[in-house]
Amino acid sequence: MRTKVIAGNWKMNMTPSQARELLAKIVDGCNTESCDVIFCPPFIDINLALEKVNGTNISIGAQNVHFEENGAFTGEISATMLAEIGVEYVIIGHSERREYFAETDEIINKKVKKALEKGLKPILCCGETLEQRERGIEVDFIRQQIKVALYSVSACEMKNVVIAYEPIWAIGTGKVATSNQAQEICKAIRDTLCEMYNVEVAQSVRILYGGSVNGSNAAELFIKDDIDGALVGGASLKEDFINIIKAV
Ligand code: PGA
Repeated sequence: MRTKVIAGNWKMNMTPSQARELLAKIVDGCNTESCDVIFCPPFIDINLALEKVNGTNISIGAQNVHFEENGAFTGEISATMLAEIGVEYVIIGHSERREYFAETDEIINKKVKKALEKGLKPILCCGETLEQRERGIEVDFIRQQIKVALYSVSACEMKNVVIAYEPIWAIGTGKVATSNQAQEICKAIRDTLCEMYNVEVAQSVRILYGGSVNGSNAAELFIKDDIDGALVGGASLKEDFINIIKAV
């Protein structure tokens, strides 16, 4: 039985004072043993978020990491830096990073490997555009994203990887995928893991759905066999995030 994961991706929202206010409202409602809860705030809020969740079951994730160890990479953050302060997860391969910051599957693979090497758990994102879905090539496209992103990641390391299926057309649009559409792709991802590794790995990796998840649509997604939780954007900035956790 896989423990569900509810992760909040705050994106570029919440100044430190706003973050403090939000955390004061939601931390108690998010401190649950029924699922793994992760907040992924901007870097500048990470320390205060770590302090705020101290003594709870909630984990903290970053939204990005560089693939090099350290050095002349102005503006970047290393996996070692994140691990040292107690960050547990890192979102890698989000469609916004792919689109606005030109991240390729190869770069994403390097980030996944560096994160794992330094003890961080990647939340690896994948997902198709509306055009790809209309052309009927979404499964092939996502299989390719997964295969390249996980190239040379071992079966043992897969224990620390979470995958998030986020159709680009559903992100921030209010247009949630139907639970059948989400289930179909999460199952295709699990089948891909089975081909790449084995049944045990495929059955143990948590695969989340992301894209306009909120307190009202979460429950119907979570009853599907291969959907192990959600990566939540907009609704993670509100008290509604607690309703998503309650839907588990
Ligand atoms: P959304 O974002 O919930 O606002 O659609 C999801 C995401 O980008 O992770």
